[in-house]
Amino acid sequence: MRHGGIEMLANALELINIRRAKQQDLTGIVDIWLAGVLSGFGISPPPTENALRFFAEKLDLQTEIFGIWVAVREDNIVGWQGLYPCRNNPIEALTVAESSTYVSPTTRAKGVGRTLLLFAQEHAMRVQLRELRGNIATTNTASLRLVDSLGWSKVGTLPRARNDSLEFFFYAYAVPSDRKCHSRFEPIGTTVDRAQPRQRAGSSQLS
Ligand SMILES: CC(C)(COP(=O)(O)OP(=O)(O)OC[C@H]1O[C@@H](n2cnc3c(N)ncnc32)[C@H](O)[C@@H]1OP(=O)(O)O)[C@@H](O)C(=O)NCCC(=O)NCCS
Repeated sequence: MRHGGIEMLANALELINIRRAKQQDLTGIVDIWLAGVLSGFGISPPPTENALRFFAEKLDLQTEIFGIWVAVREDNIVGWQGLYPCRNNPIEALTVAESSTYVSPTTRAKGVGRTLLLFAQEHAMRVQLRELRGNIATTNTASLRLVDSLGWSKVGTLPRARNDSLEFFFYAYAVPSDRKCHSRFEPIGTTVDRAQPRQRAGSSQLS
C-alpha cells in the first residue's frame, strides 16, 4: 500500500466536515493563511488587515463554481480550500480556476490537505470546470507531493519576477469529464456539506 492516500486518512483523521466558508470563518481562514505564507511564498506575511480585507471580499464573491471551503474538526477550522476565477475571457472565465490549499500548522501531515484537494477536484468535476491551476514554490515539498500524487501536471517553471526569493513551478490539473476523477469518492472520516452560497446579483451559475 502506498504511503498516504485514502487509507491513511481513514486511520489518521478524526471526523472532519468540509463546508462552504462564511464571513464568520474569516479570522480562522486568515490565521491559517498567515501561518502558511512563509512556506508558500518565502516571505513574511503582509499586514493582517490587508489579508482580512482580501479574504472578506473572496467570501463575499462566492458563486456555485468559485469560493472557499473550510475543513472543520470539533468546531475548529483546521484548513481551507479556495477555488478562484483566474481567466478573463468568456470561454475560460467559468471553466478554469486557481486552487489554493492551506492547513493549520498544528494539523499538517495528517491528510487534511489531501482531503481538501480531493474535495476541490470532485467539486470541479461536478460544476464542469475544465482545469485547475496553481503556482507552487519549488521548495514547498508538502505541496509538491500533494499535487504530484493527485494527477496534476508540472507545466514548467515560472520566470522569477522582481525580488522573488523563491522559484515557482506552474501546475495544472485537467478535470476529468467522467467519473474517473481521482477524487471520485469522499475519504472515510470526512463529511461534506454541499450547501450553496447565496446567489449574488450578476454572479455566475452553471446549474
Ligand atoms: C501544503 C499543505 C496544504 C499540505 O497539507 P497537509 O495536510 O499538511 O498534507 P497531507 O497530510 O495531506 O499530505 C500530503 C502529502 O504531503 C506530504 N507531506 C506533508 N507534510 C510534509 C512535510 N512537512 N514535508 C514533506 N512532505 C510532507 C505527505 O507525506 C503527503 O505526501 P505522500 O502522499 O507522498 O505521502 C500544508 O502543508 C500547508 O498548509 N502548507 C502551508 C501552506 C502552503 O504552502 N500551501 C500551498 C500553497 S501552493
